[in-house]
Amino acid sequence: MKILLLGSGGREHAIAWKLAQSQKLEKLFIAPGNAGTSEVGENVPLKADDFDGIRQFVLREGVSMVVVGPEDPLVKGIYDYFKDAPQLSHIPVIGPSKQGAVLEGSKDFAKGFMQRHNIPTARYQTFDGEHLVEGLSFLETMPAPYVLKADGLCAGKGVLILPTLEEAKRELKEMLGGMFGQASARVVIEEFLSGIECSVFVLTDGRDYKILPEAKDYKRIGEGDTGLNTGGMGSVSPVSFATPDWIKKVEDRIIRPTVKGLAEEGIDYKGFIFFGLINVNGNPKVIEYNCRMGDPETETVMLRLKSDLVDLLEGVATQTLGQKTVEIDSRSAVCVMLVSGGYPQAYEKGKPMTGLTVPGSQLFHAGTAVKDGQVVTNGGRVLAVSSYGRNQEEALALSMKGAEQIQFEGKYYRRDIGRDLLAL
Ligand code: AMP
Ligand code: GLY
Repeated sequence: MKILLLGSGGREHAIAWKLAQSQKLEKLFIAPGNAGTSEVGENVPLKADDFDGIRQFVLREGVSMVVVGPEDPLVKGIYDYFKDAPQLSHIPVIGPSKQGAVLEGSKDFAKGFMQRHNIPTARYQTFDGEHLVEGLSFLETMPAPYVLKADGLCAGKGVLILPTLEEAKRELKEMLGGMFGQASARVVIEEFLSGIECSVFVLTDGRDYKILPEAKDYKRIGEGDTGLNTGGMGSVSPVSFATPDWIKKVEDRIIRPTVKGLAEEGIDYKGFIFFGLINVNGNPKVIEYNCRMGDPETETVMLRLKSDLVDLLEGVATQTLGQKTVEIDSRSAVCVMLVSGGYPQAYEKGKPMTGLTVPGSQLFHAGTAVKDGQVVTNGGRVLAVSSYGRNQEEALALSMKGAEQIQFEGKYYRRDIGRDLLAL
């Protein structure tokens, strides 16, 4: 089978690495990919949301499956684009329909969906600019801190957590006044939940589902979870508090009702569902849905997935996922992200990288490029050093060794990935 994978980050390199291990794979293309994906497939200079370019490429090369990494093409409707075009409708796209992607694209829709299907989440209400006064009054009924969420996609910046009522009221006015443009034309105000977060991933064919390994990501730039938010500084899998009992609660209260709810509402969904969960006194609640895999969670999840990913995705495409089994590696996996100095604020690109052969670790490229035959940095998050271990400490120690060995000017990484879990 010839597969086209869309995207260019560490998540896509990890998915590409896994797909490339399959006997069922004849050829893998990645659009646009990065320096790492070119080691396991062929990069194609097409943007992930250039649907016409993708159509021409898929027909020319005889691609028989499209796997979508990031949310953007899904929210823009690539699934429907393929389904509705007579020449393309036989080619499965792994990812939800445009309507399904709204679970990620609109926080208000996601909250309403959870309410309709009795899925545990924070208490909330949504307000638009015409109901600012009601929004301000609603804030007065809530205890501090205050959680304000722009309804639409804001590149991970749309959630504000504010310690005082005064700040919350000011920010609500700003958001509804256009702080994030159209994305904050509506704002979800919700109850603050206190607990540890965990990302749970599911593959669904719209009828059945399979639970993939869970993971935890580390979003802040500084050790001890301090400083600015980033796209993710590392991840671990498994997550110590996600015991079989806890995952059973997630399955019964969250996963099954979600998959059933999508089917009941006639929403076409054949792809990954990412449940962003928070553990409140032993009870999982949904913080957010995403319609794709997580980054950098995928860089540990793919390490622990033993089953053939192409075979599972075929099960999704043909709605035979129920007949497949998911085998999970019992070892731990830890990923440490190397980032450019200055990230998540201004940083420089084009720094030559050395030491890129690290025995015992898998290197997933995030922001790299090849320039004059040399691998150089090409983004804020540069490279994920992912390792196995008999336990989390051992996996972390291996990733640390790799992180030290790889060199580029301005390199920074966190040394405490997963440490909070060891202290539980
Ligand atoms: P989101 O963009 O929805 O993932 O939110 C970004 C981050 O804000 C989450 O990963 C949580 O750390 C935090 N967050 C979101 N909603 C809540 C909530 N209701 N209570 C506490 N923290 C939250
Ligand atoms: N790691 C969180 C995300 O991918 O959204």
